[in-house]
Amino acid sequence: MIVPACARSNRARAILSRTMSKKQTGHGYAADLLNLFAPGQGVPPPRLAGREQELQALRGLLRRLLAGQPPSRDAVLYGPRGNGKTVLLGAFETECRAAGTVVLALNASQVKTVDALARQLLQSNAVSPGKEAANPLAGQIQPAGRAVQREFPTMAVGTASAGVPGIGAVTWEQMSREQLDANLERLVTDRCRHKPLVVTLDEAHTLELEAGHRLLNLSQQLRKNGAPFLLALAGTPDLREHLNAIRATFWNRAEKLSIGRLSRESTAEALVVPLAERNIQFDKNALAAVVEDSQQYPYFIQLWGEALCHAMVESRSYHVDTAAIEAARPRFETSKSDYYGDRYWELRKQDLLEVADTVAGVFEGREAIRFAHLSDYLVARMGVETQAADAKLNQLAKLGYIWQPGSTQVCEPGIPSLMAHVKAELAVDRYTVAPDV
Ligand SMILES: Nc1ncnc2c1ncn2[C@@H]1O[C@H](COP(=O)(O)OP(=O)(O)O)[C@@H](O)[C@H]1O
Ligand SMILES: [Mg+2]
Repeated sequence: MIVPACARSNRARAILSRTMSKKQTGHGYAADLLNLFAPGQGVPPPRLAGREQELQALRGLLRRLLAGQPPSRDAVLYGPRGNGKTVLLGAFETECRAAGTVVLALNASQVKTVDALARQLLQSNAVSPGKEAANPLAGQIQPAGRAVQREFPTMAVGTASAGVPGIGAVTWEQMSREQLDANLERLVTDRCRHKPLVVTLDEAHTLELEAGHRLLNLSQQLRKNGAPFLLALAGTPDLREHLNAIRATFWNRAEKLSIGRLSRESTAEALVVPLAERNIQFDKNALAAVVEDSQQYPYFIQLWGEALCHAMVESRSYHVDTAAIEAARPRFETSKSDYYGDRYWELRKQDLLEVADTVAGVFEGREAIRFAHLSDYLVARMGVETQAADAKLNQLAKLGYIWQPGSTQVCEPGIPSLMAHVKAELAVDRYTVAPDV
C-alpha cells in the first residue's frame, strides 16, 4: 500500500490506523461470527454447555491418576449420536493433557487388530491424527519408550514385535493370547510408571472383538497392578451390548455416563454465551423460541446458532429478536431436513421403516414408554415374536431413533422429531402414486 506523505504525521497515522482497524474488524467480525458455531461431527462448540456433572465424574478418575494411583474404574460415555460424546471426550483429553498426563486419543477404526492396538499403545508420539495437533507434551513419552527398550531389548517401540522371554522376538500377531496380554501389560505398565497414561477410544461400539478383548483385559490388569492408566470409551447406545459381548463384566464395573440432550438452561447457555461475548443479545421471547425449536439437541443447537449468525451478519444487527429468528429459520430448516433425509435413508437401507413407523405411532401423545411395553406393542401390531421385536428395537436404539437414558427401562425418542419426519415421509411414499414411466 502507498502511504501518502501527509500520513507520516502522527495524527494522520493514527487516523489511518483507526480506519484500517475498523475496516479489518468489520470484516474479521463477520468471518468470526459465520464460523462461530460448529455443527458437525466432533467439532468443539464455542460453549460446551451442561456437561459439568459428567466432567466432574471424569475429573474424579483423573485425580487418582495424578496421585500416581489407578482409577477406581474405566469410563464409558454413551448416547445417541449428535449429543456431544466426541466433544466431551475431547474436552476431557484437553484437561488431561493440561494436567500433565499423556493422552492417546484413538478411534476404534485405528485398533482393528491386536497388532494395531499394540502399536498404538506403545507408539512414542502420543497424538493421533486429526486430534489436538499441537500437543505440548508430544515427544515427552520418549523416555518411557527408552525405558521400554531397556527392559525389552528385542522390542522397538511402535514396531511389530515384542520380546517374549524364552522365545525371542515375535510379532504381536504370532503371540498366544496369554503372551500378548502379559507383554502388553508389562510394557504399558512401564510406560505409565513414567507418566500417567489416558487412553480414549471413540466409536467404541465398532471395536473389533479380539482387539477389544485385549484392551479391556489390559485396562483391568493395569488397574490391579496399581498402574496410573485410565481407559475412557465413547459410543452409541448399543455400546453396552457390544462391550458385554467382548467382556461380560466390563459394563457393570465401569463409570457410565449417559450423554443425552441438554436441559433448557444449558441450551440457552450454549447460544447466549458465545453471542454475548460478541456483543449480541437475545430478546427473552426469541431465546425461548430457539430453545424450544432446537429441542435441546446439541447438533440442532449448533445449527440454530449458525443460522442466527448468518442472519445477524446479513442484517448487520446486534440484537436477536423474533424477526431475526424468522430470517434465520429457512437456513436451519434446510440443514435439519438434510440431516433427517440421511437418517430416513439409513432406516430404509436397514429395512427399519415399518417398525420405525409403528414405534412413532406408539409414541404419539407420549414422551416415554417402558422398553417391555414398546416390545409388546410391536408383537401385537406387527405379529412378530418378542425376540424379533426386541432385536428391531435394539437396531432403532443403535441409530438413535429411540433411547433409554441412564439405567432406566424407559425409552424416549432419541434424535428429536425424527419420528414425525419418518411418519410424514412414509405417508408420502405410501399414499402418493409413482408417476408413469
Ligand atoms: N455440550 C454441548 N453444548 C453445545 N453444543 C454441543 C455440546 N456437545 C456437543 N455439541 C455440538 O453437537 C454436535 C455433535 O457433537 P458430537 O460430539 O459429534 O456428538 P456425538 O459424538 O455424540 O455424535 C457438534 O456440532 C457439537 O459442536
Ligand atoms: Mg461422535
